Amino acid sequence: MEKNFDIEKLERYIIDNSLTYYIETYGCQMNAHDSEKISGILSSLGYSRAQDKDKADLVLFNTCCVRENAENKIYGNVGKMKQYKKHNEDMIVGVCGCMMQQKGVADDLFRMFPFVELAFGTTNMQDLPEMLYHIIFDKERIKLIEDDKIAEENVPMKRTPPPLSTVNIMQGCNNFCTYCIVPYVRGREHSRRIGDIITEVESLMKDGYREVMLLGQNVNSYGSEFDRVTFPMLLEEVAKTGIDRIRFMTSHPKDATLELFETMARHDNICNQLHLPVQAGSSRVLKAMNRRYTREDYLSLIKTLRSIIPDVVLSSDIMIGFPGETDDEFEETVSLMEEVRYDSAFTFVYSPRKGTPAAEMPDQIPEEIKQKRIMKIVALQNRITYESNLKDVGRSDRVLVEGKSSRDEGFIAGKTDGGKMVNLRGDISLVGQIIPVRIAEAKKTTLVGEIEGR
Ligand code: SAH
Ligand code: SF4
Ligand code: F3S
Repeated sequence: MEKNFDIEKLERYIIDNSLTYYIETYGCQMNAHDSEKISGILSSLGYSRAQDKDKADLVLFNTCCVRENAENKIYGNVGKMKQYKKHNEDMIVGVCGCMMQQKGVADDLFRMFPFVELAFGTTNMQDLPEMLYHIIFDKERIKLIEDDKIAEENVPMKRTPPPLSTVNIMQGCNNFCTYCIVPYVRGREHSRRIGDIITEVESLMKDGYREVMLLGQNVNSYGSEFDRVTFPMLLEEVAKTGIDRIRFMTSHPKDATLELFETMARHDNICNQLHLPVQAGSSRVLKAMNRRYTREDYLSLIKTLRSIIPDVVLSSDIMIGFPGETDDEFEETVSLMEEVRYDSAFTFVYSPRKGTPAAEMPDQIPEEIKQKRIMKIVALQNRITYESNLKDVGRSDRVLVEGKSSRDEGFIAGKTDGGKMVNLRGDISLVGQIIPVRIAEAKKTTLVGEIEGR
């Protein structure tokens, strides 16, 4: 891309032709956040958002490779673009995100799908204008993927409208859990400066946002490259901005501290919610996963947490079928779930990822056994989640209304302080307000509430 690049010519072309874009996002909140950056860059060039994928002039797939089924779905959906391209010759189809950071994947995609003209990595979105210029005016096919680059500050963002938004506090991961591809595709940990994060939160508040979710693969190691900076210190500073609600994810149990729990307890605007993925209940499996805590460490951490924040809403990620996981070891995961009683949990079947140590381990678990195990923990968690919801019935809570309920006409929806979703009868004008609610009914995964004092 050394050739000349004329941004005004590009902008004129985009505006004169009323070009539109569509982004299909896969994977975690990190990717969703990146898509908001990509949307921001495209909007600043003059693109508007298309309602439908088939009618857009630029279609981008922001990809995830954490599990094989995510990847397969993406290959399938990119492949389907061929038919749309037939109707609109000038449509640009591009791929970006985590899959691109794996060696050879972008080249494979280019080979498999000759109509794909653009591929870029997780930290290359600010070069998007230049890439688009060369595709449009020089008819080039562009691939730009850099490893371990630090994402730029001040990229324009097109966020979802208030009241909620996400703020990235760090990129990358240094943990190398043996099953996980993320450290390979997202590079090493790099924390943003506290000042930049606070400025972002303050500007969100000015724009009417009332809740932020601080994002990082392991927020508890935030600041490790700076002198005497810790995640609880950052939380404290964010709390002092006075924003109504602060959540954060993900916390790695090995780095979750008493200082963290005490900071959460000290500030009303830090929500009583913690996502603390355990992954497995057997200390042997945890060691093989390189999680660096034992079952006992984890259980004692939960005890400490609950002694400091008794009403904390707790969630987890749980994986079954890690190589070598015996029936007894699997049962240890079951018993841990019964003991901790998470309010909710994401459950996963282990998926071998090329290039990670676990993919090379002996004793990969047969598919039928994995299926049996996942069904058992899904049913167990469903029961515990429902029981946790039943316990909320009759309680009063405060709900930040996010929008119309997807479920029922005339209903709005929002989250409690602990992060549980509540549907309630109410007017759309309440969106963005924090209102007192009495929990009237428990559903399997959500609650039904009534506005108090009416
Ligand atoms: N950094 C976060 C999230 C990482 S990805 C954390 O450490 O918790 C989200 C979840 O996907 C992980 O917690 C894990 O449960 C799951 N996961 C990661 N790699 C996986 C794999 N190879 N197969 C199945 N699940 C996986
Ligand atoms: Fe993956 Fe582990 Fe890092 Fe989470 S902490 S992103 S599971 S390597
Ligand atoms: Fe997230 Fe998937 Fe990448 S889980 S960090 S989008 S591999």
